Amino acid sequence: MSRGKFTSGSLQLKVRHYAPQRPPSLASLIKFCGFILLVYFIVASYLLLRGERKTLLEDPNESTLRDLVRIIGTKVTFRARRVPAVSELLDLHMFSVIPPHFLLDVKNPCWYEELRGNVSADPYGSNLFSRLYNIQNAFERLSATFKKQLILHDGKLQRLRCLPYFYIVGQAKCGTTDLYERLRLHPDVHLTPPKEPHWWSRRRFGINRPGDPPITRFPLDHYLDLFDPVAQRIQHRLLGNSSSRSSIITGEASASTMWDNMAWSYLHDISREAEPPSLSQDFIHAVQPDARLIAILRDPVERLYSDYLYFGTSNESALDFHQKVCESLRLFEACLRDAGLRACVYSSTLYYAMSVRLQVGLYVMFILDWLSVFSRDQLLVLRLEDHAANVTHSMNRVFHFLRLGPVSKQTERLISRRPVANTRDPSDRKLGPMKPVTRELLRKFYAPFNQKLSAVLQDESFMW
Ligand SMILES: *[C@@H]1O[C@H](CO)[C@@H](O)[C@H](O)[C@H]1NC(C)=O
Ligand SMILES: *[C@@H]1O[C@H](CO)[C@@H](O)[C@H](O)[C@H]1NC(C)=O
Ligand SMILES: *[C@@H]1O[C@H](CO)[C@@H](O)[C@H](O)[C@H]1NC(C)=O
Ligand SMILES: *[C@@H]1O[C@H](CO)[C@@H](O)[C@H](O)[C@H]1NC(C)=O
Ligand SMILES: *[C@@H]1O[C@H](CO)[C@@H](O)[C@H](O)[C@H]1NC(C)=O
Repeated sequence: MSRGKFTSGSLQLKVRHYAPQRPPSLASLIKFCGFILLVYFIVASYLLLRGERKTLLEDPNESTLRDLVRIIGTKVTFRARRVPAVSELLDLHMFSVIPPHFLLDVKNPCWYEELRGNVSADPYGSNLFSRLYNIQNAFERLSATFKKQLILHDGKLQRLRCLPYFYIVGQAKCGTTDLYERLRLHPDVHLTPPKEPHWWSRRRFGINRPGDPPITRFPLDHYLDLFDPVAQRIQHRLLGNSSSRSSIITGEASASTMWDNMAWSYLHDISREAEPPSLSQDFIHAVQPDARLIAILRDPVERLYSDYLYFGTSNESALDFHQKVCESLRLFEACLRDAGLRACVYSSTLYYAMSVRLQVGLYVMFILDWLSVFSRDQLLVLRLEDHAANVTHSMNRVFHFLRLGPVSKQTERLISRRPVANTRDPSDRKLGPMKPVTRELLRKFYAPFNQKLSAVLQDESFMW
């Protein structure tokens, strides 16, 4: 408003300055008209240029976009990461709580821990997870029988503590919930809510959701509390007269474990070109070198669209998705100009700047980094497409991987007929597929990563 006033005022000033006192001659009239024309051309050409720049920034043509993806492609190289020594992980509390060896007669990783603090106080009263999830009832049940579960050893009261035997580490929108829900139907699998504690990637640093700054750190003890219902069952088995090894296992399925290491940027004052000095898997491996890991993946192009629909605004449309993809590709390419590929993939700055989570689909980047500490036979990689096509087959692979016994025909039917968990919202389906041009761009963007993934996993189906 005030800017407009100022402009018209200054124009008036100029006009008055050039307006002659006496009646205007033809020459001065021509001069005046010439000046107006000149101003018009200058303003018009400026506006035109600005308009062009605007369309260039907001709606680049297809060949510009293809160039962008091609440039990104030239920067895709896979370098081995520097694996930190255990002494660099500096989480002394973690190593003082979790012993180097677990109980031998229990399949799940469990140990006896000396009870510290006030035996009469509610052991779960301050658990931070119970403020986020509806698990108070489970904690009340545990509290009621807590003292009965304690054993006296060497004159000290001890409780059984357990970690997950397996982790479903990712990825988001790839079927982790469906896998988790079917797995829990196996009689030897005991899963306790919440499905996604996000402790290794976020909560131990005090991050609640991606994008939030760290607030209250969730202690390891609060994470271990989540597995106490399983510990109680195992303890019951151990106290009983059963001579067989306890075969009950537990696990969790935080879909951020595989890729989200953004907390490091809060902890280390390092430039944005740097790579994270340690990743979640370094910590898991340090305390649990025998952990079993499951990743379920899907065509990264479809994953991105599903992610967009899940986290999207009210404004969802194929065009809006296209614009967000273009903008994110540009940001990704800009990051690669200053920093290496791994630095960009783990960059929190880039993550918060991009409106669609392109990097979550760069599976091979994460898989290689998990394989830098865990061996190949500790990681099962499934495809959602295969899982959907034959759920019996993929669940059998999971059971075999987790060294679970075969299930009865009846349980098998129960597992395969369970309705699919966490499908697309019907309102999202109305939106239809993405634009063919978006698909083509994303296909090219992900191609070199899929190719490498197929090579690493020695399975062509990961080319999609
Ligand atoms: C796309 O935009 C670029 C840069 O503005 C231009 O050089 C190119 O000719 C355009 N291509 C098409 C097909 O419009
Ligand atoms: C232990 O906890 C109980 C119950 O909360 C409380 O009454 C008691 O005073 C506590 N004792 C100590 C030594 O803190
Ligand atoms: C285990 O067996 C012993 C004798 O063999 C018996 O005294 C005890 O009550 C049994 N414990 C349970 C939990 O069944
Ligand atoms: C909604 O979509 C329009 C056009 O695609 C875009 O200009 C606008 O920024 C979008 N708004 C949000 C909140 O994403
Ligand atoms: C699914 O897998 C099971 C177990 O591997 C196999 O017996 C069955 O024939 C498969 N079904 C289809 C439709 O391929």
